[in-house]
Amino acid sequence: MTLLITHGHVIDPGRWNGEADVLIHDGRIKAVEPKLHAKLEQSASLTTIDATGLIVCPGFVDLHVHFREPGFEYKETIATGSAAAVAGGFTTVCCMPNTRPVNDSRSVTEFILAQAALTKKARVLPIGAITKGSKGEELAEIGELYEAGCVAISDDGMPVMNSLVMRRAMEYASAFTLPVIDHCEDSHLSQDGSMNEGLVSTELGLPGIPNAAEDVMVARNLALAEFTGARLHLPHVSTAGSVRMVREAKARGVAVTAEACPHHFSLTDEAVRSYDANAKMNPPLRTDADVLAVKDGLRDHTIDVVATDHAPHAVQEKQWPFDSAPFGIIGLETALPLTLNLVEEGILTLEQAVAKLTSAPARAFNLPYGTLAPGTAADLVLLNPNASWIVDPAQSYSLSRNTPFAGWTMKGRVEKTLVGGAVVYETLPRQPR
Ligand code: DOR
Repeated sequence: MTLLITHGHVIDPGRWNGEADVLIHDGRIKAVEPKLHAKLEQSASLTTIDATGLIVCPGFVDLHVHFREPGFEYKETIATGSAAAVAGGFTTVCCMPNTRPVNDSRSVTEFILAQAALTKKARVLPIGAITKGSKGEELAEIGELYEAGCVAISDDGMPVMNSLVMRRAMEYASAFTLPVIDHCEDSHLSQDGSMNEGLVSTELGLPGIPNAAEDVMVARNLALAEFTGARLHLPHVSTAGSVRMVREAKARGVAVTAEACPHHFSLTDEAVRSYDANAKMNPPLRTDADVLAVKDGLRDHTIDVVATDHAPHAVQEKQWPFDSAPFGIIGLETALPLTLNLVEEGILTLEQAVAKLTSAPARAFNLPYGTLAPGTAADLVLLNPNASWIVDPAQSYSLSRNTPFAGWTMKGRVEKTLVGGAVVYETLPRQPR
């Protein structure tokens, strides 16, 4: 089957930025060229999508989602998470292993891949656990996880506190050039904290998590990555200290990549004043100074990637008192407009914003996606950067509703998402479920 996407403004970071048509054949990109529609003969086997007024770019790649299957299907399944992904423009998502059971074995990895294949929406790439049961004690079978299809290892949600265990994990992972992702939190320093430690936590009487809980572990992990030569990926960077240390490490040539989540560059701990647990995540929302540092990190590419940390939790769980509610918010459907805000603010160009969602994450995990290069899978997004919409959690494709952005007016909307040349999402008037 041949498909031609015409009249769009194509942004293929580092390769093309301008008007062009995209020719797709048998699920793969065949060509990106101006005015292809004038050169190709109309035929019954040629389908056309008119992208006038739209940006056409590679499908987004999210290095950090939590789909709750197996084990917590009442929060999210692989099918509902994938539906939210493609509605947000994400065609590839890497799912963290904190399921039940934890993804620390071939059988869980294979189960996730099988469920993902059934949904036929986003490509779901599993991340295996670093340690058995993510308990931080004994290494998981990293080689087996790699062979089964894991694209990285992490105990996300939990730090690997034991530095020797982390050293060994990095050494093993290096043999497979697998990125190692550590949830950077010194659990002795974070203790029972439920929000950022600072003026707001003091005023609210909530136990705080200091910046140092993240900074200490970022420093340790950078030291270990430099020592072992492993590929380190730092998730959900939230502090000015982390940004500074990653910048210094990159300048020294350490093989590190870093991600920022939209909530960490869009909100501060002021959002917690209402005691709404939809503003509770880990790491927590920080201060203005941290938000500015994260934006600076994105601007100078210290922070390579925007990732969502999509972490669904049920409505009733988020209604618990703030300090006992679970950490995490959904993020797949709001990431695009929140990232486009950085363009409005002059922090990123539009092409850079697209790159942070496409080519940069693909490069970080060495994935063959996030590009419109001929021969690659035809995973694309058609988006309208100027369309406004209001976030209504009831209309989310996720099974969960836990967003701090309810009622926000967002600018930038996904109109169509294609995976392997097939339309898997298009904007329709949504009905509350
Ligand atoms: O807020 C978070 N939620 N941070 C994490 O690291 C884990 C995640 C989850 O699994 O809910």
